[in-house]
Amino acid sequence: MNQPLRLLIVEDMPDDAELMVMRLEAEGFNPDWQRVQTEEAFLKALEDKPDFILADWLLPQFSGLRALELLNERGIDIPLILVSGSIGEEAAIDALHRGASDYILKDRSKRLGQAVRRTLESRRYQQDKEEAEAELKRRLTELEVLYNISSSLRYLESLDAMLQSLLDQTISALHTDTGAIWLSNQDKNVLKQLSARGWFVELDGLTLKQGEGLVGNTFLQDQPKFCPEFIREPDISNKIIGQVPAGWGGALIPIHSNEEKIGVMVIAVELPRELTVEDLKLLSSIAEMAGIAVHRLRLFEELQTATEALVSAYDETIKGWVAALELRDQETEGHSERVTELTLLLAKMMGVKEEQLIHVYRGSLLHDIGKMGVSDSILLKPGPLNDREWEIMRHHPQYAYDMLTPIDYLKPALNIPYCHHEKFNGTGYPRGLKGEEIPLEARIFAVVDVYDALCSDRPYRLAWSKEDALEHIKKESGAHFDPQVVKLFLNLIEKTG
Ligand code: C2E
Ligand code: SIN
Ligand code: SIN
Ligand code: FE
Ligand code: FE
Repeated sequence: MNQPLRLLIVEDMPDDAELMVMRLEAEGFNPDWQRVQTEEAFLKALEDKPDFILADWLLPQFSGLRALELLNERGIDIPLILVSGSIGEEAAIDALHRGASDYILKDRSKRLGQAVRRTLESRRYQQDKEEAEAELKRRLTELEVLYNISSSLRYLESLDAMLQSLLDQTISALHTDTGAIWLSNQDKNVLKQLSARGWFVELDGLTLKQGEGLVGNTFLQDQPKFCPEFIREPDISNKIIGQVPAGWGGALIPIHSNEEKIGVMVIAVELPRELTVEDLKLLSSIAEMAGIAVHRLRLFEELQTATEALVSAYDETIKGWVAALELRDQETEGHSERVTELTLLLAKMMGVKEEQLIHVYRGSLLHDIGKMGVSDSILLKPGPLNDREWEIMRHHPQYAYDMLTPIDYLKPALNIPYCHHEKFNGTGYPRGLKGEEIPLEARIFAVVDVYDALCSDRPYRLAWSKEDALEHIKKESGAHFDPQVVKLFLNLIEKTG
């Protein structure tokens, strides 16, 4: 019931000291006290770490102010109340400025117990407040670290790059440079080190079974593990012990993805440093985030593989269509492949962007896919077409447009099938586009297509000579064809023959 209080009294009068103690007992304290009256005795008494100091204003060989000064010089934080027979208001204020908690006049010493209690309470409140602020600051720092790591991981698209970045940021957040991430394989039997810094690099290529070594045990038990020094741990693997330097300790944290354990993160620090409880909290939060990132990336990689499979299935389908088309018209066999190759070459030379080329490729292969909608009697007619037949034949770009538009994947490839019969001077079909209204890749393609058509046999005529075909291209520069494309095309044919 009585509150213990280790009390140091700086006082030359024994009776005054007794009185102070009585006042405190009356207030419910149980003082364990000693009295000193010199500087030397005061300093010695401080070694016992008193909870509280009551100091007389003036003693024959010492003073309350001097006691305050000694505490300040040594950075000792013990509350001190000045007690005095008479003290002027100015002196009292001065004492408070120097760090006294309060002052009491001896003839009002009934106040003493209350003053001590109030001082202790306000200090406790102050300490709680400081602890709360420090905790808040720590959590803010932790959140900042987590936020930075998570936002930097979001944009990485390979598991390996993500693990490297994650490890770098984690060790730097913990002010060390050594650590590793181990992940399990599909059946969860084997753990492999996939990312390492510091001496963990020496362990690259090693694998550990579930339950083997510190890593395998942390994984099996699915609990964070704190190791003051790794080589003293009974669980450390024989495979590894020779490569782990003495004087290093740290923590192992399991990583989970989608409720399943998938690996272990190890962070190491060199003694005498040891990881704190706060470090472990931060590591657990990072590990949690790492699990989510791994899960996301594994999904992403699976999706990518599936997408690649789908894309290659689509491209096979396109080739199938082209083959079917060319099968109907034996004489155009190989035409689509040839014009595609030359078109891609010119497109690159004219600065079509790399990511656009795949669409140019598909568009070229599919340029006459609309001829699927033209009957054999017209397509294979050995002679010139009549008006009705031309009407239908001139529809083939529109057929292509109608056929390919619903396919998202081929939409960006539409320009060539839809626009390859437009002419630079605006007299082409289906829309009569003029100059640069015609998409660049269609302007390029038109030159290549006509050249290859002229140099091949057609059901309606025999092949032209190469010279005649080139002459035709030159003559149509600025009329049928874009002059810039013609120039580049002629250069290319001259060089490659
Ligand atoms: P295609 O045979 O692949 O010809 C593509 C383009 O090459 C033609 O587009 C045209 O610009 C050019 N071209 C081909 N052969 C000649 C030619 O002998 N002289 C000239 N000056 N240019 C030629 P176009 O004219 O829009 O024709 C599109 C498609 O219509 C042709 O594709 C072909 O399948 C068909 N076609 C065109 N003319 C005839 C024809 O007289 N008889 C038949 N049966 N089909 C024709
Ligand atoms: C299309 O995609 O609509 C055909 C080419 C053009 O944009 O003019
Ligand atoms: C493009 O579609 O890639 C180029 C369009 C243009 O230059 O007309
Ligand atoms: Fe065509
Ligand atoms: Fe063609």
